[in-house]
Amino acid sequence: WIGFHTKMAEGTLPFDDDQKGIQDQVVIKFSHVVAENTPKGLAAQRFAKRVNEKSNGQIKIEVIPNGGLYSDQEELEALQRGDVQMIAPATTKLSSFSPKWQVLDLPYAMPTSESIIKALNGDIGNTLLQSLEKKQIKGLALWINGFKQITTNDGPIVHPDHLKRQNLRIMPSKVLQKQFDLVGAKAVGLDFNDTYRLLESKELNGEENTISNIYSKKFFDVQSHLTISNHGFLGYAVIMNEEFWNNLTKQQQRIITEAMNEATRLNQRQSFAMNEEQLDLIEKNSSIHIHYLTEKEKREWAKRWEPVYRAFKSDIGEDLLSKMIQLRD
Ligand code: LMR
Repeated sequence: WIGFHTKMAEGTLPFDDDQKGIQDQVVIKFSHVVAENTPKGLAAQRFAKRVNEKSNGQIKIEVIPNGGLYSDQEELEALQRGDVQMIAPATTKLSSFSPKWQVLDLPYAMPTSESIIKALNGDIGNTLLQSLEKKQIKGLALWINGFKQITTNDGPIVHPDHLKRQNLRIMPSKVLQKQFDLVGAKAVGLDFNDTYRLLESKELNGEENTISNIYSKKFFDVQSHLTISNHGFLGYAVIMNEEFWNNLTKQQQRIITEAMNEATRLNQRQSFAMNEEQLDLIEKNSSIHIHYLTEKEKREWAKRWEPVYRAFKSDIGEDLLSKMIQLRD
């Protein structure tokens, strides 16, 4: 049974009523595709724990990590059908709903952790979450993973031309496609949980992702080179099926909102540190060669990718784009 939600009498607040037992429990399935020891995995667990505590067990968040229920390409449709109640896809994957989301994928758009937090907590984040209303989706929060890096078997990757003709896995995205087209790479949009296998079998020779995903999915075991480029952002929209949300009582909605705010604050405090700790672990425990791009090298990549901004100006909208450029500069 998925998302079992028993009927409650109109206006009753089940947690105030000792007579009501477990049959009134609301179960919310929360499916995501990454490991548990990641910024998203930890925030999801914290959220589930706080909802459980605040509701005295009357609302149960069942977190299913690692794509155990749906792959990243399936989960959005599953949410819209109501087969799963909550997911937290990469913001990149929401551009099929509204092209505005592509603003968060622009290369080197948010160069520091402060600029990421400012964008997500401010106008940019609000505009994006609101754009989901038209799609019958309730946007609950934006979570951070961190900066994307590049791994390959054909390195070192120091200059943009080093990616020429490399076969890379990317998230399905026009912005990311354009970004890698510009440097002559052959990038393919594929499921996250197929990446390790395709790298291991050498069908692909590289990919871009955050350290936390590279670490927790052991991509470093099947790649010879890692470039710390911090060239892009990976974060998540935490979203719920809107009809399901609307059927919750006001009190249930309040508990979920409060627990979500706590989990989001925790996520914003710990995600960057988590990526750094896991980079240390990769450095200590694997033989992968690591190159840190210098500031000068980063400027070379950013310049090469500048045309992406022009190419997506009308998709993203001038207003949102100029807000992002202000943050960047
Ligand atoms: C990816 O597909 O690389 C990421 O979106 C996975 C994730 O959810 O962090």
